[in-house]
Amino acid sequence: MRRPTFLLLAPLCVAAVAQQTDVINDEAKVPRYTLPAVLTLRSGQPAHDAKTWTGRRRPEILSIYESEVYGKSPAKPAKLNYEVRSVEKSALGGKAVRKIVTVFFSERPDAPKMDMLLYLPAGAKKPVPVILGLSFAGIHTVANDPGVPLAEQWVRDVKQPAPEKTRGASTTQWQVDKILAAGYGLATIYYGQIEPDFVGGMKHGIRPLFFKPGQTEPAPDEWGAIAAWGWGAMRAMDYLEKDKDVDARHVALFGHSRLGKAAIWAGAQDTRFSIVISNESGEGGAAISRRDYGERTKDLNTRFPHWFDGNFKRYSGREDEMPFDSHMLLSLIAPRGLYVASAEGDQWSDPKGEFLGAANASPVWELFGRKGIGTMEMPGLHQPVGDNVRYHIRAGKHDVTEYDWEQYLKFAAAQWGR
Ligand code: GCU
Repeated sequence: MRRPTFLLLAPLCVAAVAQQTDVINDEAKVPRYTLPAVLTLRSGQPAHDAKTWTGRRRPEILSIYESEVYGKSPAKPAKLNYEVRSVEKSALGGKAVRKIVTVFFSERPDAPKMDMLLYLPAGAKKPVPVILGLSFAGIHTVANDPGVPLAEQWVRDVKQPAPEKTRGASTTQWQVDKILAAGYGLATIYYGQIEPDFVGGMKHGIRPLFFKPGQTEPAPDEWGAIAAWGWGAMRAMDYLEKDKDVDARHVALFGHSRLGKAAIWAGAQDTRFSIVISNESGEGGAAISRRDYGERTKDLNTRFPHWFDGNFKRYSGREDEMPFDSHMLLSLIAPRGLYVASAEGDQWSDPKGEFLGAANASPVWELFGRKGIGTMEMPGLHQPVGDNVRYHIRAGKHDVTEYDWEQYLKFAAAQWGR
């Protein structure tokens, strides 16, 4: 039976983690910490107005995250090409128009390329807002063949033309009917086409396309896999801007878990995304790193060394020395819409740390006269809080559910007024 590998991997990750004995899962044991000031320039001067923030503080924080965390990404390639491979006028029982678009990152025929699956509400009278999501499967699948190393399976299956076998396999995680009913489109791209997610996967992805002659590894301040996935989302946005059925001023970027980290980083850099949605992005995403609860920097760096840049390795066990923390990362989304969500059963992602990331970023929205989360008190289950920065925690495990989508769609409607 062919099953998407991610579905098999996720429970294994959780099991591996549960055995780690030095991980703090008790609120009373969390050591005290002090966050770096989001509204103070490196020089020590205040950044207490929107102009100073935008002109000086924002670029400082962006450059810290580029060099110390995710690594610098290249600009949009001059030779980016798209091909609309198919347009089905009556998909999903007549509810949607379905397009499959291939994005070519380079003119080299053997270079990586990615396929975007785009659903638009049928019969739309004008360009529609779109939710763009990085996906763990999408129209691609990775076979689970016992005995064949994962790396080989991944390369073999992703190099094939999109087999579309897993389309529809994660319908609860992608509430396409609800999204279409709200009048929005849904675009997904499979992250493994941008770079396969394993140590050594880099050579099959997009990063080597940008190496200087003779370069075989990224420099310590150059992009890791998370930045590469986020860069792919930005290239998807380049296409959406050209599609006349899409209202590109209203595109929300969504990501779950490691792809939530990628969505935040892409949204931080690229202000074309009018909303960023982080679903349980956890450590290295929305959660405060200094809060020693659940996953830590050293877990990321040892278990997923390909995700972040080389410089990030120096912060394992040294979170207090970070000249940044997640509230600063999230502040880069201001004054646009930001949604951070957690699950009670996903303590590894540190729900309270995710809330505190969003709450401590909120003063930046206030500089623009926009309300942020509006409270420093972690809300109870199923009680979304906040205005232009919104947060909820729901019951259940690490996942994306119907409840989550209902909240995201309400938020999008409030942000977009449509
Ligand atoms: C692991 C990892 C997390 C990540 C998650 C996921 O649990 O430790 O940082 O968010 O995988 O992407 O599912």
